[in-house]
Amino acid sequence: MSTQLATRLVVLISGGGSNLAALLEATRDPAYGAQVVAVGADRPSAAGLDLAREAGIPTFVERVGDHTDRDAWDAALTAAVDGHEPDLVISAGFLKLVGDRFLAAFGGRYLNTHNSLLPAFPGIHGPRDALEYGVKVAGATLFVVDAGIDTGVIIAQVAVPVLDDDTEDTLTERIKAAERVQLVEQVGRLAREGWRVEGRRVIVGG
Ligand code: GRF
Repeated sequence: MSTQLATRLVVLISGGGSNLAALLEATRDPAYGAQVVAVGADRPSAAGLDLAREAGIPTFVERVGDHTDRDAWDAALTAAVDGHEPDLVISAGFLKLVGDRFLAAFGGRYLNTHNSLLPAFPGIHGPRDALEYGVKVAGATLFVVDAGIDTGVIIAQVAVPVLDDDTEDTLTERIKAAERVQLVEQVGRLAREGWRVEGRRVIVGG
């Protein structure tokens, strides 16, 4: 039997937490190789916090407005995450850009899942922007967060078709379904096999 410890994940959310739910489901199997040790949010209304509580996982909330400035918020968020000693921090629909302090602590092991095929359509309206542009293929990107907006080294991407009768909602849901599968597959793979970054490439295993 392997004695390797499971990779410790702290997941950051702002919304419903369907990506978090998929991770929680996957981590029920010890063979997955990772466990969610805490869930953090930037707002108490993030519905995903309830999913974590129901699973008996510690939660924390750091609201920007509760701090004197953005830097103080960044310091508080960094401390809150650090307290759970994560190996990986996952932004799963976390709608805030972290600051220098956070990146100094977790840079290189802070991942974000974004609902577009980067570098197309960065920012918070990926599906809407893809639809308005008229692309025929959309999707999701898992990447290592850097100081830019959705500019980090890409770990994996998954494509879905854009249909003629799509609305923002239908395209968003199609992307999210594929995005969840990708997130679960890739986080497990990184946890079990290890990884490193070389230039703009992520090398898994070896
Ligand atoms: C994901 O599609 C993510 O890419 C985007 O927000 C969505 C989060 O959904 N930034 P959920 O909260 O995991 O359901």
